[in-house]
Amino acid sequence: MLFQSDHPLIQHKLTLLRRQETEPKKFRELVRELTWLLAYESLRDVRLTDVPITTPMGTMVGKEMGEKVGLVPILRAGLGMVDAFLEILPMAQVWHIGLYRDHRTLEPVEYYNKLPSGPTVQVCLILDPMLATGGSAVAAVDILKRWGAQRIKFVGLIAAPEGVKRLSQAHPDVDIHVAAVDDHLNDIGYIVPGLGDAGDRQYGTG
Ligand code: PRP
Ligand code: URA
Repeated sequence: MLFQSDHPLIQHKLTLLRRQETEPKKFRELVRELTWLLAYESLRDVRLTDVPITTPMGTMVGKEMGEKVGLVPILRAGLGMVDAFLEILPMAQVWHIGLYRDHRTLEPVEYYNKLPSGPTVQVCLILDPMLATGGSAVAAVDILKRWGAQRIKFVGLIAAPEGVKRLSQAHPDVDIHVAAVDDHLNDIGYIVPGLGDAGDRQYGTG
């Protein structure tokens, strides 16, 4: 299922992020702030367990996260979303996957995979700001399913309709959380209007 946030804070920050004059330092700050807000929504259905606690006034049964969450940033651009998640979810595990798009075919090429031999978490969140053709996201889900992951979600900032369609068709069980679904992909696979290259804009390599 697609979850697209229309929250005013998210839309305001996303507009700043898109502007071509936004320099890398500000761009990274905005990616971090947007990720906090999207993280909140994407974790809405994590299961809770009861935990007896004592407050200064007495005892009660509180709640704690009953599932282990794994963050799976897709290198490079997904790296900018990791710290924001860890700030609100410090116990999350982080498993890196390196994928880049072949400029000619636009298909993803895997160059790094730090997953252990078997799954160690119940919920996997794939982090990548951009869902363009959807090739990278589908490849990441394929890798996680082969690993044995049960519940997988994609958390990003901007999607193209083409990417949403491809990911939803390949993996209908994977929820997609984004701040915007833009108009279209151009003929070299960039999201329009989008924000350009999310990796280059974060790391000043454009
Ligand atoms: C970007 C982006 C996604 C991918 C999306 O990465 O961060 O991983 O493109 O495109 P797709 O949906 O068409 O697969 P890129 O390949 O530019 O690598 P980088 O993060 O190292 O710059
Ligand atoms: N990757 C990006 O960083 N931006 C796009 O618009 C498409 C893919």
